[in-house]
Amino acid sequence: MVTFNSFKDQTLFLTKKFLPWTLYILLPFALLRLFFSPLPFLPPPDSNLPHASLLTIPSLSPPPPPPPSSSSDFTAEEAGAKQASISPCDYFNGKWFRDRRGPLYNDTTCSTIKHGRNCIAHGRPDLSYLYWRWKPTQCNLPMFDPQAFLQLLINKHLAFVGDSMARNQLESLLCLLSSASTPNLVFQNGEDSKFRRWIFPSHNLTLSIYWSPFLVKGIEKSSEQNYNKLYLDIVDERWASELGQMDLVVLSIGHWFLLPAVYYEFDSVLGCHYCPGMNHTEIGFYEVLRKAFRTALNNIIERKSAKGEAIDVTVTTFSPSHFEGEWDKAGACPKTKPYRKGEKELEGMDSDMRKVEIEEVEAAKEKAKNYKYEGFRLEALDVTKLALMRPDGHPGPYMNPFPFANGGHNQERVQNDCVHWCLPGPIDTWNEIFLEMVKKWRI
Ligand SMILES: *[C@@H]1O[C@H](CO)[C@@H](O)[C@H](O)[C@H]1NC(C)=O
Ligand SMILES: *[C@@H]1O[C@H](CO)[C@@H](O)[C@H](O)[C@H]1NC(C)=O
Ligand SMILES: *[C@@H]1O[C@H](CO)[C@@H](O)[C@H](O)[C@H]1NC(C)=O
Repeated sequence: MVTFNSFKDQTLFLTKKFLPWTLYILLPFALLRLFFSPLPFLPPPDSNLPHASLLTIPSLSPPPPPPPSSSSDFTAEEAGAKQASISPCDYFNGKWFRDRRGPLYNDTTCSTIKHGRNCIAHGRPDLSYLYWRWKPTQCNLPMFDPQAFLQLLINKHLAFVGDSMARNQLESLLCLLSSASTPNLVFQNGEDSKFRRWIFPSHNLTLSIYWSPFLVKGIEKSSEQNYNKLYLDIVDERWASELGQMDLVVLSIGHWFLLPAVYYEFDSVLGCHYCPGMNHTEIGFYEVLRKAFRTALNNIIERKSAKGEAIDVTVTTFSPSHFEGEWDKAGACPKTKPYRKGEKELEGMDSDMRKVEIEEVEAAKEKAKNYKYEGFRLEALDVTKLALMRPDGHPGPYMNPFPFANGGHNQERVQNDCVHWCLPGPIDTWNEIFLEMVKKWRI
């Protein structure tokens, strides 16, 4: 029980409570500039910028407190246990092991690898990160079978909705499937092609990506407005208005919630995150992420059930980043091997983001039951732990071609991507597990 003896204690408590959030904010500042901005890359900033020198703090700081309203007695372990009793295998607990079989594709066989993920073509010298496979404790995870995937989704539309992590997973799937069948790009729109659609004519499978980093209506920060605006009770119609065409949806968001933002709900300001000088209440981002998921999942359930249409929904859980040093210095994510079992625990923000997502998946399942909506299937693609163990799978400096070509490794400043995944890379495993989920649903 927390009691306050004085105003000072209370201030101290609040500072402690919110300190981690203010620290975590420094990371995405860098990320936003690098990865979330569609603008061409700008020269590295002055190294005296506070975020550059403080980037390492999040990993050293104590984990943040649990979200304010974590009073429910639900635990992720229970969710895991529940899942294990239904499905034959828990795919999300296991370990990475060496495997000589390499990836299914490379940049010769797959032409759609996004520039910033094309690590081999960009000269990444160590390639051992390609030779690890995920082994769930209870079973074996089969290698991705593109024919099986295409066969299961004949005449279906699979949509990825979210931020650049959603796009990273979609691009992995596109390459995996391209090894068996050639897709046609049939639609693209938006800055940086944030909305795209392909058809695999061999199976009439439609694959699409919808940019929606909050799932709810939002205005992304820009040069005029230095923070995001989120409308937590209003779904983002850029994807939701097309739900009628979708048979399967993969939702993947998270990193954008770390950025400064003002939150609106029911036409008034609910609070903000990292908005000094704005006279709004700091409320952090965990409960905001929860509300965004709830709005998105509720909208899917309500709209699809009203029309009697079936839909399969997957929530890809939070994918941790692995910055160990400054984002714009060599060696920001230098590891070349996965963590061994027990070497790295899931904790802090990574754990709390995942927890919110798992809880909202469970809540939405309950809601669908109340609606007696049987065409709705929902699972978490709970990759947080798998991803956490793979500090070696990020582009790092190889987000750009041959970053050390002029001047060698002594080069002072080089930008690093320690958030997204190289293609091919560990994220291909997310889709291997996704295929097992689709098999369970559709066979
Ligand atoms: C890419 O994959 C193809 C087919 O597996 C293979 O023949 C080729 O050698 C690979 N290219 C590179 C650069 O590894
Ligand atoms: C292809 O799939 C879409 C749904 O994604 C469906 O509407 C369309 O009728 C299908 N086309 C054919 C020729 O079966
Ligand atoms: C801050 O908000 C409070 C409550 O809405 C209001 O009373 C106060 O005048 C505001 N302060 C400033 C500086 O705007």
